[in-house]
Formats: sequence, structure tokens, C-alpha cells
Amino acid sequence: MPRISKKGQDMPESPIRKLVPFAENAYKQGKTVYHLNIGQPDIKTPQIALDAVKVHSLDILAYTRSEGSEGYRQKIANYYAKNDIHVKHDDIIVTTGGSEALLFAFGSITDVDDEVIIPEPFYANYNGFSTSSGVKVVPVISKIENNFALPPIEEFEKLITSKTKAILICNPGNPTGYLYSKEEIKKLAAIVKKHDLFLIADEVYREFAYDGVNHYSILQEEGLENHAIVIDSVSKRYSMCGARIGCLVSKNKEVIKTALKFAQARLSPPTLAQIASEAALETPQSYFDDVINEYVERRNVLIEELNNIEGVQVANPKGAFYCIAQLPIKNSDAFAQWLLESFDVDGETVMVAPAAGFYSTPGVGLNQIRIAYVLNKESLIKSVNILKEALKVYKD
Ligand SMILES: Cc1ncc(COP(=O)(O)O)c(C=O)c1O
Repeated sequence: MPRISKKGQDMPESPIRKLVPFAENAYKQGKTVYHLNIGQPDIKTPQIALDAVKVHSLDILAYTRSEGSEGYRQKIANYYAKNDIHVKHDDIIVTTGGSEALLFAFGSITDVDDEVIIPEPFYANYNGFSTSSGVKVVPVISKIENNFALPPIEEFEKLITSKTKAILICNPGNPTGYLYSKEEIKKLAAIVKKHDLFLIADEVYREFAYDGVNHYSILQEEGLENHAIVIDSVSKRYSMCGARIGCLVSKNKEVIKTALKFAQARLSPPTLAQIASEAALETPQSYFDDVINEYVERRNVLIEELNNIEGVQVANPKGAFYCIAQLPIKNSDAFAQWLLESFDVDGETVMVAPAAGFYSTPGVGLNQIRIAYVLNKESLIKSVNILKEALKVYKD
């Protein structure tokens, strides 16, 4: 049989999705499964976006420009201006989700064997994107004991080698909920300028910043024009994960010129979804106020309930809608599978994401899970109760 590539073999499975067949089996057994594994919000998509797709006047569902339709990019630039981020439409390339923006960023700035420094734990698919680009992830360790606070900035500097091309942060963070302060962004900016590196910030959760703290974008940082690359997406902002629309933003013309070649190779981002995303930009602030309130309440309920379980440690998220919980078990992979295969409370069980896949350091995070608080409070309370009952009887 012809052989699969080494790269293909090295591609990690997504810890968020790899247990799906076990969930399917649980459904077949008639069980209800609470999905805490994936960041698929249950929040309604703005009606204005859904309507735009229903009433469009297209005769031909044609390609758009590779960088995305000009009208949409102009409006994205306006959206950024409202967020005190000043970019032009030609600093923006519309992509098929933030996922493709990450691939374009890696493709544009790294060569095989280059290194990218990433605070760990990180969004699991950074491992996959790095593998597919032949890039080595160099982790900066953050710990649950310190609420996943960023380690001293000097720790980053120690890791910089001649192969380092970029520092990649996720702000607010998936899976930790960590929200970077303005001071931290300034320190990171100083490092990337000093060592002439790129700073990639995945800001797909920009709006989801809690407790009165404002998000500070790397695009707001003066003097970082040639270094900053922002990854963005409509997926979470407007609960439009299935639209598959995101963007890459940089004031560095060479980055945009290069990313555009990757964009041309895949022809264009989805046309109908750009129409929906353009309409979504008209979503009133009241929608976000309600959504943010809802997530804060969910977070508070979830963290309180988790803290009530003996032996469970949890960091308090300040943004996004995830948390890492450390459980009194040895292997969360086996535990998560067992929950789906062999455990239920009155016919109901939970699906969680084993956290080891959110680290690149082998053997770390084995007793942790990532929980997405994308379900209503009642379901979250039920889910945590299922975890609590499961931990009483589970044997590693
Ligand atoms: C941190 C982060 N970045 C990027 C993505 C990719 O999102 P999408 O491709 O749906 O825009 C996700 C999805 O969960 C995410 O959590």
C-alpha cells in the first residue's frame, strides 16, 4: 500500500473532536450527552445575519475576490475602528474561519523547522497547524496554580533562538480564559521588536472580556505595525461557527502580499457566508451586552459548582468561555471516554475535552479537562453534578 507521509502520521487528533464516535454510541444507547467539549455556543445567531442569506439577490453564487469582497472588508475596518483599532480594508484578508487565517499566517512567516513560542496550555489546533507547516512549538509554561498567569516576560526571552519566528498568543485565551493586560502586551511588543519577530494574536474572543476589564489588541500598540498579525473570526462573536468566516489582519504589507498568495491558491472565502458576516456587523451592542452577561453568569455558576467538588481545582477565567479543571484522576483521556461509554446519571452524561492535547509538552495536563461553558446554566449545573457523581465511582 502507498505510504502516508510522516507529517500526516504526526498530525495530532483534535482532543475536542476525537471522542465523537463514543458520543454517537451514547446517543444510540438513548443517553443525553451534554457537550462541554466544544466551543459551539447555544446562543442564537443575530437574525439580521440569517435574514441576509434568505433574501439575497444573487443570480450566480460566484467566487469573490481571494482577499474577500471589498464591501465586507471596508465594513470590517469600520468594526475595528469602533474598537479603537485603526486598519484599512487592504490590511485585511477574509479567510475560511480563523483556522485558515492561522494557516495563512504560519504559511507566510515560517519555514520548516522554524520555531514559534506559545504560552501553554493553548488552543489545541495550534499543534495541528504547526505540524502541517513543519513548525516546532516551543511552549512557555503557565500553571493552574497561578490562574494560568503569563510567566515573567524574561521566560519568553530565554526561549528565543535563531529559529524563532514568532510568539503566538490567544487573547482572551482558549482554554484558560486568560486575558492579557495592556502592560503584558507592551512587554511582548518590546521583545518582538528587540528580536525582530512576529507577534501573532488570536483575538477571536475579543468581545468576551469580563469583570470590567477591556481587551487590548496588539493592533492598538504603536510601533508594532511590521510585527503584529491578528487572527479573527465571526464564529464566536456572532455565534456563526458554521459560516466559516474569519480574517487575517496586519499592517505589514509584505505579510498581506504573501498571505494573499495562499488565499489565491484556495480561490475565495465562501460567498454566502460573507454576505451573512457583513450583515452581522450591524448587530446592536445590546446583543453583546446580553451575551456577555449570560457568559459571566454561566462562568460564575460553573466555577462555583466545580469548586464544590472535592479534589477539583479550577482556574477562574477572565474571558472567552472555557476553563481548565484539574481532577483527582490520572488520565483524563480514559476518564472522558469512560464517561461516554460507561457512565450516566438517569440516562445523562457529559462529553469533555481531555486537556493533554492543549499542551505540547508530553505528559502535562493528563489529569485536566477543558470545559466549554456554552450551555445554559441549568445544563451546566446538571453536567457538573454528573462529573461529581462520576468522580465518586471512577477508578483509574
Ligand atoms: C482560539 C481559537 N482560535 C481559532 C479558532 C478557529 O475558529 P474558526 O475557524 O471557527 O474561526 C477557534 C475555534 O474554536 C479558537 O478557539
